[in-house]
Amino acid sequence: MTIFQKRPWELPERDVTPEAVFLNRRSFMTGLLATGTALGAGIAARSAFAEEDPSAQLYPVKRNDGFQVDDRPMTEEGIASTYNNFYEFGSHKQIADAAQALSIRPWTVTIDGEVEEAQTIDIDGLLAKMPLEERIYRHRCVEAWSMVVPWSGFPLAELVKLSKPTSKAKYLRFETFHNPKVASGQKQSWYPWPYVEGLTIEEATNDLAFMATGVYGKPLAKQFGAPLRLAVPWKYGFKSIKSIVRISFTSERPVSFWEEIQGKEYGFWANVNPSVPHRRWSQASERLLGTDLRRNTLLFNGYEEQVAHLYKGMEGELLYM
Ligand code: MTE
Repeated sequence: MTIFQKRPWELPERDVTPEAVFLNRRSFMTGLLATGTALGAGIAARSAFAEEDPSAQLYPVKRNDGFQVDDRPMTEEGIASTYNNFYEFGSHKQIADAAQALSIRPWTVTIDGEVEEAQTIDIDGLLAKMPLEERIYRHRCVEAWSMVVPWSGFPLAELVKLSKPTSKAKYLRFETFHNPKVASGQKQSWYPWPYVEGLTIEEATNDLAFMATGVYGKPLAKQFGAPLRLAVPWKYGFKSIKSIVRISFTSERPVSFWEEIQGKEYGFWANVNPSVPHRRWSQASERLLGTDLRRNTLLFNGYEEQVAHLYKGMEGELLYM
């Protein structure tokens, strides 16, 4: 007898099926109306919380008009901040309340590995040194939903410069905090905590690679990965690691969290490509978060001009998974 058991990291079908098909729309709308008030109160509470962030006075920052999205509307803050992937706080989307348990001060980021000198930087010291700006980016999750958000932060290239990598440094390995006492998802021992992601130095110094410290004109709310997360919009969303505590420069390609769990489905490169399906669903289109609309997915999520050159001559690599 074959027993087919769903492994914990396998996504429920509702995450890859248009919501309008999965749910009866009428009961979905009635449910929304009923929860509207509670949701509104929750958002207000979380916004109030963000104002206590010691970096609050830095925002809003000046928008960089070189990074706009013209082909779809901005996702409403109330939607983007209540539908999150942050497995440290649960393997579902409604983790915003649980994420408030994360203490984000004091917060330091350790930079080590192939650098002239390892250093540990306090987040507020880092914010004071970096040129903060706002950029509007598309975000495409591997689960076939997408959003458009205004990130505030600074180019990752600036942090690379500050780190003074040696000539042996070929990759950056990013690591999220590890504290199962506040993040109950980290008690689930089948996941290889802490969450890890990686980029090549060329990717990290590309103009688009961004360290987000804020969103919607405020410091990052905790569910978005406060106080520091990556935003690499030409790649599937799982590459955009949240709540970073360590960045190591390495000569070997790091193995990322999802790659370690299921490398055939979540590879190192993970560049968005509508023509390369996930092993269990199509990547040809995506659901715009907060709407019933589907859009055709764009190669490199619409950032081909900025990043395609990074992958020239790499035909042997599985660049899109
Ligand atoms: N970073 C950490 N540390 N833990 C996570 O579970 N999820 C990833 C990414 N970064 C994740 C993470 C995935 S799958 C996505 S789609 C995005 O965060 C979601 O970002 P959002 O919640 O801001 O939309």
